[in-house]
Amino acid sequence: MRFSNIVSVTAVLASLASAVPTHRCGDQGACPKAHNVDNCYNPKQIALTFDDGPAGFEKDIMEALGDKKATFFLNGCNSQCIYDEENVKQIRALHAKGHTLGSHGWTHANFSTLSYDQTHQEFEKMEQAFWKILGLKPLYFRAPYGETGDNLMRVLAERGYKKNFLWSDNVGDADLCGVEYGKSVYENIAKTFPAPHMVLNHATYETTAKEILPYAICELEDAGYEIVAVDTCLGEYLIHAARTDVHRSHVVFLLVRLIGSQGEWPYDEHVVGEPQERDETWVC
Ligand SMILES: *[C@@H]1O[C@H](CO)[C@@H](O)[C@H](O)[C@H]1NC(C)=O
Ligand SMILES: [Zn+2]
Repeated sequence: MRFSNIVSVTAVLASLASAVPTHRCGDQGACPKAHNVDNCYNPKQIALTFDDGPAGFEKDIMEALGDKKATFFLNGCNSQCIYDEENVKQIRALHAKGHTLGSHGWTHANFSTLSYDQTHQEFEKMEQAFWKILGLKPLYFRAPYGETGDNLMRVLAERGYKKNFLWSDNVGDADLCGVEYGKSVYENIAKTFPAPHMVLNHATYETTAKEILPYAICELEDAGYEIVAVDTCLGEYLIHAARTDVHRSHVVFLLVRLIGSQGEWPYDEHVVGEPQERDETWVC
């Protein structure tokens, strides 16, 4: 590693230490690798995921979902600033409703083109925002465009992220495929019941929130699907609670299989604080 890299990485680590209490695998030796996950595991379950928010349509998505849980991969500075008053309110509402929130990077970058330092910065800024708004550190990530690379996988591991989520199906909203196409994606999924799915949607389109999603929920529930967040549908991946204790983990694993999965915790259990008060640092 070149000297300048060491200096800037040290600077990143130092700035983190001052603001966000972090838990780094590096303190205890080798970092466990983050897994790429592109589908649910449990039959009869489907995870609906919404990228690129906060974007203003979270309220409509929540209304359509009712008590069903979904997953939101957030940007800091994409179409809107994560610190805008209304966005902070929506993010807190999503969390209070029990939806799962993950990082999608600060600027929606193509991570295959970023340096190691730039990759850390993208994560650092999102972690600051999660800490300020929710008092949590996310351990779930989705790579924008599904573009990964060595720097991304290394930084995910170093920062303790558990998973990089991809998807099994794409409603095509970001590709401007239209409402009829989006509905047809869900019709085709419904025909595959009980096969699990993980579906890519975007929180940035009003038609996704108000037309495709309500239709999708009807189709999927008629077919017999249970709509859940990504942490619930992973089945045998869930050994989280006892990952340091082999014997206990087998017991937890069996219990999960017997009583049904309640999901793993998608945040760092060592970094739990209170939502912060807005100050002059809440800017994009
Ligand atoms: C991301 O960058 C890589 C490398 O330059 C390029 O091959 C790929 O097409 C880019 N992806 C997108 C979605 O722009
Ligand atoms: Zn995206």
